[in-house]
Amino acid sequence: MPTDTVDFVVVGSGIAGLTFVNQTARHFDTLILTKKDRAESNTNYAQGGIAGVVSDDDTLEEHAGDTIRAGAGLCHEDAVRTLVAEGPERIRDLIALGARFSTERDASGVEHLALGREGGHSRNRIVHAVDRTGWECERALLAAVRDLPRLRIVEHCLVIDLALAEVDGRRTCVGVFALDANTGDLHLFLARAVVLASGGCGRIYLHTTNPDIATGDGVAMAWRAGAAVANMEFIQFHPTTLYHPHGRSFLISEAVRGEGGILRTADGETFMHRYHPMGDLAPRDVVARAIHAERLRRGEPCVYLDITHLGDDFIRHRFPTIHARCMELGLDIAADPIPVVPAAHYMCGGVQTDLEGRTTLPGLFAAGEVACTGVHGANRLASNSLLEAMVFGHRAALAAMEDASASGLPEGMPPVEPGDVSVRGSGLDAGEEAPPPAVMGAARKHLQAVMNDYVGIVRNDRLLITADSQIRRFQKETRDLLRASRRDADIYELRNMADVARLVVRSALSRTESRGLHYNTDHPDPDPEQAHDTVLQRGT
Ligand code: SIN
Repeated sequence: MPTDTVDFVVVGSGIAGLTFVNQTARHFDTLILTKKDRAESNTNYAQGGIAGVVSDDDTLEEHAGDTIRAGAGLCHEDAVRTLVAEGPERIRDLIALGARFSTERDASGVEHLALGREGGHSRNRIVHAVDRTGWECERALLAAVRDLPRLRIVEHCLVIDLALAEVDGRRTCVGVFALDANTGDLHLFLARAVVLASGGCGRIYLHTTNPDIATGDGVAMAWRAGAAVANMEFIQFHPTTLYHPHGRSFLISEAVRGEGGILRTADGETFMHRYHPMGDLAPRDVVARAIHAERLRRGEPCVYLDITHLGDDFIRHRFPTIHARCMELGLDIAADPIPVVPAAHYMCGGVQTDLEGRTTLPGLFAAGEVACTGVHGANRLASNSLLEAMVFGHRAALAAMEDASASGLPEGMPPVEPGDVSVRGSGLDAGEEAPPPAVMGAARKHLQAVMNDYVGIVRNDRLLITADSQIRRFQKETRDLLRASRRDADIYELRNMADVARLVVRSALSRTESRGLHYNTDHPDPDPEQAHDTVLQRGT
């Protein structure tokens, strides 16, 4: 197999990965492997913004308090404090790199950042670029790293598994196996450290705000390699995605409620005041469950988000993307309420890391949605995700560079000989024949439907046990498919989806209480004895 050696391999080209390389590729050979075009990341689709204490009216204490309250008893306070304290500096870095965020003028004509509001926040603190903040972050970062002398980006290259070897008596990540999706060629990249920045797993659900790429690859391969994975039961459902036959799962940003949007049932009745003192701006888990309950109670397929009172001009300027997309579908949101339903949105758990992005597997770092830093606990506070990706992507870069300098390994020298790398579990000893694509498409849809129907916003033990047995079958089937072909990216993705779905279900089954995003009608209350992370690790 062709083999290359670099200092760092970064899996994924969203905000976490780009923040990392913006530090490392000034000093070390850094390679980004991304499975589609470089700009195709979860980041790109983030509408709302970046939460951060950037105004004199706000305090780090309040941002930390809101984050911890939303996290329902599971946030790690040290991680939260790091996030809120270092966040403003990372936002300033991004602005210095050229990100253009929305601004406004105060009474004396001075221009400053316009700060939006979202659910669970006690203050306006969301830095945003109208309703396409992620796109703007991605644009600015890609432009900033474009000319870094020691950066190489390889597109359409799917990392299929981590390369492992015994180093100083410890199982260590020494690189990755990757598949060139265009040619079907396999490649081994050896590195001093690998950074997973591969985003989340929304695509394991039928209805999700996430793009096609979000198949949980990073979590799946870290778990197969033996790294600890935490809190996978906490899948966040975004309360408001468009309910439309052609626009299903298009996100209607929480910023819409932040600007005064009101949730109503079909007959115009408001309901959020019955569920939480913060009403329409309650934390996401509460709003998603309330919408679910109202739909069931009334037998209606959706509820409505009403912003007609904000006026056409304001709506077009504040939410140009949402306005335009709805118009394309024949819906004028300045005139009519928006039909909305919840959809899978964000993975609060992930590969367990310390505050420097180190996982439990030596040589492996993780940052962004793929990581579980302890910041989100059982429910992520809105707009803390881009912030987390920047803060911990930056910290991981500093730590990885420090480790690389301390290792004393001469530049360009592989951490191990290619022959010492284990291919265990990577399917690389399989045959060549690809199964018909129809089989793949059907299997994927079936898995997604199981997750939607059995592992959704409201769960119970019977549904979870049924899901577990069905997903185990999928896991076996994908391994059989892999034995038939080792050059088809779809099969590797399907294997990842099945592995991650199983991690979600196993974690959900092990939490016999309701907390944050995990609501089980057989165990409807929180149990103080279970106020800890759910950690799964292969072989333990
Ligand atoms: C949104 O715009 O509602 C999404 C922001 C987020 O998920 O934090």
